[in-house]
Amino acid sequence: MSKKVQGLENGLTNYGDKGFARYLRRSFAKSMGYTDASLDKPIVGICYTESGFNNCHRHFPEMLEAIKRGVLASGALPVPFPIMSLGEVFLSPTSMVYRNMMAMAVEEMITAQPMDSVVLMGGCDKTVPALLMGAASAGKPATMVVAGPMMTGRHKGERLGACTDCRRFWAQYRAGTVDEQEINQIEGRLATTAGTCAVMGTASSMAVIAETLGMILPGSAGIPAVHADRLRNAEETGVVAAQMALSENALTPDKIMTHEAVENALRVLLAVSGSTNAIIHLTAVAGRLGIDISLDRMNQLSDETPVVVDLKPVGQGYMEDFHSAGGLDGVLEAIKDKVHRSPINIEGVSLGERLDAPKADPIDHNVIRTADNPVDPQGGLIALTGSLAPEGAILKRAAATPELLEHEGRAVVFSSLEDLANRIDDPDLDINADDVMVLQNAGPRSPSGMPEAGYLPIPKKLARAGVKDMVRISDARMSGTAFGTIVLHVTPEADLGGPLALVQNGDRIRLSAQNKSIDLLVPEEELEHRRAAFTSPNPEPARGYKQLYHNTVLPATKGCDFDFLQKV
Ligand code: FES
Ligand code: MG
Repeated sequence: MSKKVQGLENGLTNYGDKGFARYLRRSFAKSMGYTDASLDKPIVGICYTESGFNNCHRHFPEMLEAIKRGVLASGALPVPFPIMSLGEVFLSPTSMVYRNMMAMAVEEMITAQPMDSVVLMGGCDKTVPALLMGAASAGKPATMVVAGPMMTGRHKGERLGACTDCRRFWAQYRAGTVDEQEINQIEGRLATTAGTCAVMGTASSMAVIAETLGMILPGSAGIPAVHADRLRNAEETGVVAAQMALSENALTPDKIMTHEAVENALRVLLAVSGSTNAIIHLTAVAGRLGIDISLDRMNQLSDETPVVVDLKPVGQGYMEDFHSAGGLDGVLEAIKDKVHRSPINIEGVSLGERLDAPKADPIDHNVIRTADNPVDPQGGLIALTGSLAPEGAILKRAAATPELLEHEGRAVVFSSLEDLANRIDDPDLDINADDVMVLQNAGPRSPSGMPEAGYLPIPKKLARAGVKDMVRISDARMSGTAFGTIVLHVTPEADLGGPLALVQNGDRIRLSAQNKSIDLLVPEEELEHRRAAFTSPNPEPARGYKQLYHNTVLPATKGCDFDFLQKV
């Protein structure tokens, strides 16, 4: 159904003379060389996140042209506008701190500028959640393209992909089995094309989530960044966005990202054994629409959802394999009796209709298994609770060492990232392979803003002795491309005086994946004593965004959004 074109009229300010406001806006628009014919069309805004500090988005200029082509061919006017970009490895203390800032910019710029619909362009870890959060709150019709994954590189006949292989080789370098010359060679072979990390890390997990939610076109999450299909997908998305802009009753994000759609996304995240970060991000996106993700429900879904993709960091393949094996269709096929069928995507097609539609290609079951031959009979991620994490923590059990999933050990405590850096490789550090490493003060309110530091390095002396994994616990995050028996997002965080802050060297800690528990085995009277003496070592930032962040960030279990950005 077509509507009265709003286009440039959108949100026209009215200080008493609307005619003057219109005349002023059109004359400035005309300074860009537009004709009346163009300015009379509905407008598709394109939220553009290319940046010299974001390698993952380096092909966005080409994708932008393809989106514009689709918009123009369908009768609307494409207008790109810049939004800050977040290149994962170029931001300190961590990109996580800037996700909410980007989300606020996205929301406000979609709202403030005259557009009838918007195409969100994202890819690198924090950009997809920031775009979805902002668009959800803005409430205008929105659709999205993702960057798509990098292709793999080659080294000594082996395929390499950022960034699981980055870690594997660095661990070998630390252990002395890879030398200086080889690590330098590998450095140039890990990330060799445009696009997001080549494994099922955070970016790919978020792409798969965006597709399950219905915000990107079906089949597009895994198209490699450099594949021609990526450009065709961008053009097709431009067409959808133009149709939205022309429609009287276009779908808004709240109609697409419903409670059931969010639950489907969570289930798919478990089935692909996706990133622990994606739980935080999905929780934050859902929170923008008043949808709550409970850890109990997550555990329930995890216990009944098999891991069906064999991809790094927990398996063998890369995202290029995922795409050619059938992509999300393959995953949905494997868990089809478990997903809600009613959620619709940006084209108004329900998940049920998608499942029932004939598939052009057969699924490659070497990469995407069936439910009765899974990689793992249970989901990749679980939430833990217990006396060390009363409000919850996350464990990627699929990436853990099975023997360590039930483990009790002696705590070796690092009170901050600096303390960790100073002492981890000290030859005199009192630590054994069956100890439990604890990192404090790396949560959302800490000065480091919850970096991906939860993957504590194995102390050099133990690494050289062949130790590959230990139980590690923190209020930090870990990269979606990492692996190990790593308990993350401990809530309440140490800065708030949670039990994590009270752990001391030599305390006993017990992890049980079976019981989904993480316990500090210290008598309550002793903890009470320690609690009374607690003061946070982290001062409130003196001013600016960091202060806003410190004072309003929600805990990891609530998505680390700002409290005032949740739906009221
Ligand atoms: Fe951008 Fe990994 S660095 S997705
Ligand atoms: Mg990452």
